[in-house]
Amino acid sequence: MTDLSAAHDAAVTDRGRLAGSAYRSDRDLAARQSLYEWQTPRHDLPGIVAGQLSGVRGRVVDTGCGNGRFIQRLREERPDLALLGLDIAPGILAGVPGPVAVADATRLPLATESVAAALALHMLYHVPDIAQAVRELSRVVARDGLVIAFTNSDRDKAELDDLWQRAAGDVLGTGRGPARISLSARFSLEKAPAFLGEEFGRVETIALDGTITVHDPEPVIAHMASYRAWADQHDVPFDATIERARALLADHIARNGAFEINCAGGILVCRR
Ligand SMILES: C[S@@+](CC[C@H](N)C(=O)[O-])C[C@H]1O[C@@H](n2cnc3c(N)ncnc32)[C@H](O)[C@@H]1O
Repeated sequence: MTDLSAAHDAAVTDRGRLAGSAYRSDRDLAARQSLYEWQTPRHDLPGIVAGQLSGVRGRVVDTGCGNGRFIQRLREERPDLALLGLDIAPGILAGVPGPVAVADATRLPLATESVAAALALHMLYHVPDIAQAVRELSRVVARDGLVIAFTNSDRDKAELDDLWQRAAGDVLGTGRGPARISLSARFSLEKAPAFLGEEFGRVETIALDGTITVHDPEPVIAHMASYRAWADQHDVPFDATIERARALLADHIARNGAFEINCAGGILVCRR
């Protein structure tokens, strides 16, 4: 039998797939980010990061900065900070205000204790050797500096997982189809403190839960379709499953007026 989780782990961390497909541009990431527009309460994540950095002066590195959502906001609110964006995907850096560089979180091109704070937001689950990335983050921050990480809980968006399995089951003609890939499972909010605790004496977890309510299938379908880079990992035709999910959602919304997704995630603030 294939070890599905080992195969998924390899696919979630495969650098060629990340840089060449999933984050080749910000199209899929932007689709995932935009689903949160329908969430209550709305969590202003860039604002929360800016708040955590209120006492920080000097250099801040955003590792795995993606399309620069956090850098852009920090540039506006904290023009005094010297910001640096790093990512392994050159394509996604195209629209990010510089300085930016292509770099791997496990080998940061930064001197020891050279930054006041390091961000690793929704990215450590993509790193093959998470412990090594945590050691690198710890190495580059000043003794009194901080590291901020974001990730999702193992409980996050269970309704989407269920919708996928029902749609996949319909496509395959089985009861329930195979589970969809989970990006954050390797470094979920439940697992993260143990990884971060290896380097940091104080790891504070702040839960940021909410409920997404949609009256139209399309934002949910766009979110599901944003996993296209991992289409081959699903043991079911990807496009057919998306189409079936769209029909199931439309039916659910017609009968109930809305579709709800419970989101569970959080921020981890780490100090020595
Ligand atoms: C889900 S996106 C998050 C982007 C951004 N931090 C945010 O929260 O909006 C993950 C990002 O991490 C980058 N990434 C993945 N593995 C990496 C690694 N080993 N080193 C640096 N960046 C990496 C990806 O290319 C992608 O841009």
